[in-house]
Amino acid sequence: MTIAETLEKLSNASGVAGREEEVRNLMKKFLKPYVDEIKEDKLGNVIGIKKGRKNSPKAMLAAHMDEIGLLVKTISKEGFLRFAKIGGMDDRILLAQKVIVYTEKGPLHGIIGSKPPHIQKEEERKKVITYDELFIDIGAENQEEAKKMGVKIGDPVGFDIKFAKVGKGIVVGKAFDDRVGCAVMIEAIKRLKKTECTVYAVGTVQEEVGLRGATTAAFGIYPDVGMALDVTVAGDVPGVKEVEAPIKMRKGPSLTVADYGLITHPKVLRLLIDAAEENKIPYQLETGLPGSTDAARISLTREGVPSGVISIPTRYIHSPASLLSLKDAENAVKLTAAAIQKIPKYF
Ligand code: CO
Ligand code: ZN
Repeated sequence: MTIAETLEKLSNASGVAGREEEVRNLMKKFLKPYVDEIKEDKLGNVIGIKKGRKNSPKAMLAAHMDEIGLLVKTISKEGFLRFAKIGGMDDRILLAQKVIVYTEKGPLHGIIGSKPPHIQKEEERKKVITYDELFIDIGAENQEEAKKMGVKIGDPVGFDIKFAKVGKGIVVGKAFDDRVGCAVMIEAIKRLKKTECTVYAVGTVQEEVGLRGATTAAFGIYPDVGMALDVTVAGDVPGVKEVEAPIKMRKGPSLTVADYGLITHPKVLRLLIDAAEENKIPYQLETGLPGSTDAARISLTREGVPSGVISIPTRYIHSPASLLSLKDAENAVKLTAAAIQKIPKYF
């Protein structure tokens, strides 16, 4: 399977934080042929282990399996679903979206209702409608019918977006944050024939709600080096100033120098830069992003774990669909594999 095919399957799967099972099953299937051991921990993180020589350093790769989404909060008498948000999102992206409600009886299609312009007042048109004023319409006649269709309070809701190829080497799809990190991790493990260190390839849960899965996985593994594979904001679009988001699509993976939760360990940053330069892999350096990644938590495990981040520049993250360059993902694979091979020389 190519990285595009892996990404397509992962992107189309549902995995609202805390409900990652569909993605988890794919991760197990895709990692299994290339690792010596695969397990699932108590919170649901998937851990693929590729053994190095005896007593070699332990490297933990982390790519989160969860995505932002909604949860059914109430079912109105008239059959409309009100919802809570899971993960950070701008309320303005919600209006009129097609969504899927994942019930125990199976998926239900729906749309987030909106008032047609014909009947909106002048002031209404100018104002942002917040998520708590919105509702999901699944076509149910009333509350009883909605329940019969399988809806329960707490059911996860995801955006109804299918993966597609657009420009040359460019793809759009749902939840590239962080299914592209998952795809990069699988592909890097696949290409590493023999390793001098033991690699733990971890698909983490509940990143979008506070880096939770990585916290427990890292405690269990207690690696010598940690690396998160995630996305970063590609700011090369109209209306974004360079100082706000200097990372660009098509310019290679981005290496975090510092973000809101992590100052990349200088040895890890050196390792990543050396691996990129020796292998002529393009890369960008990034600092000052307000968010953070699983690496922040890995770095604070027990007595501390030197950690860093390899990010794939991605446009429109935390919205229903995002867009990225497969070439950037491919370069992230090369960089991850090259960095792993260099770890014993640096740690
Ligand atoms: Co995210
Ligand atoms: Zn992410």
